Amino acid sequence: MTKNKSDQTRIVRAGIGMDPSTGSVAAPLHTSSTYIWQDIETKGDFDYGRTKNPTREILTSSLVELEGGLGGEIVNSGMAAIDLCLNLLKADDLIIAPHDCYGGTHRLFTHRALQGRVRVEFVDQGDTAAVKAAMALKPKMVFIETPSNPLMRIVDIAMISEAARKIGALSVCDNTFLSPLRQKPLELGCDMVLHSNTKYINGHSDVVGGCIIAKDQDIVEQLRWWANCAGLTGAPFDAWLTLRGLRTLPARMDIQEANAALLAEYLTGHDQVDRVYYPGLSNHPQAELIKRQQSGPGAMLSFEIKGDLQTAKTFLSGLEIFSLAASLGGTESLICQPAIMTHAGMAPEARQNAGIKDNLIRISVGMEQINDLTGDFENSFSQTSK
Ligand SMILES: Cc1ncc(COP(=O)(O)O)c(C=O)c1O
Repeated sequence: MTKNKSDQTRIVRAGIGMDPSTGSVAAPLHTSSTYIWQDIETKGDFDYGRTKNPTREILTSSLVELEGGLGGEIVNSGMAAIDLCLNLLKADDLIIAPHDCYGGTHRLFTHRALQGRVRVEFVDQGDTAAVKAAMALKPKMVFIETPSNPLMRIVDIAMISEAARKIGALSVCDNTFLSPLRQKPLELGCDMVLHSNTKYINGHSDVVGGCIIAKDQDIVEQLRWWANCAGLTGAPFDAWLTLRGLRTLPARMDIQEANAALLAEYLTGHDQVDRVYYPGLSNHPQAELIKRQQSGPGAMLSFEIKGDLQTAKTFLSGLEIFSLAASLGGTESLICQPAIMTHAGMAPEARQNAGIKDNLIRISVGMEQINDLTGDFENSFSQTSK
């Protein structure tokens, strides 16, 4: 019904009027773990909840449509989505991953490699020569994360996925930081796109979930087969809550992004700030690329406070509105110190290699009134300088 409609309309209509038996406007929550067979030879479309659940299917098809895929699966976390795609690889296959990806992704790839499950090379994907050298190693999968967590580094999705395709490697992009509303990796050439639904897709910090979407039938079937086989599929209630959250994504993203742009501007001019990382900065060196692959800068930003780990800690402890928490993408503003929070799972050398300094502070900008947000920063900056 929403084919050929705008993303905004598709999102707002996600799951609406999907139950002809009752005519309910909101998507129904189906909790049954199992379904009755018509007779011993005939089972219906639904059989067992781990394999397929009606509420989960509504969320899957909504996200598949938004990302421009053919099919996909809802799983129980963003990490489950990342681990699920490793099932497409054989032992010893090489995966190329960004050196500055989310700390949990870095930890998963590192430990799967230590197990002998896959091989991994972490590469600065913003360095064209390094990407070329990595492709010469004949990887079977190239993992992309852009903007990256926590440094908001932007890499060229079309260029990297094309280079992967040429050597027969699968490309997969973690699109968590922008949502399909601001970036569509499948249209840019990737084979798969995944999300931590925990973040912008659900948007209310009350669900942990993930999804993976592909545009090739064979890949979709393999992903769904493994999700069922390994028991990774998401819970119906989580899918129902996520659908509820998804429906306000355009409004949330517009307000949070506008706040983030203003906060980035405020920080850029501040004498206690060394450097601001935000894709929407007017003098961003990759402005051209950002314009080509993103339809907006998003609402995540980070900055280096002048000083050290202790200065950052003092600043964080002086805040009243921003909550000190590790997640992102909810309606409320969250703040964290990656070196000791979100990226603590990375070895200190790996963090250093990725440029994640101890004085780096990451912000997920929420929907609060912008003057309250900048006022909170102003108070804490003045206490920190004492
Ligand atoms: C970019 C990115 N990808 C994946 C994940 C993992 O998602 P989850 O916490 O839902 O497992 C996170 C979590 O912060 C993330 O920031």
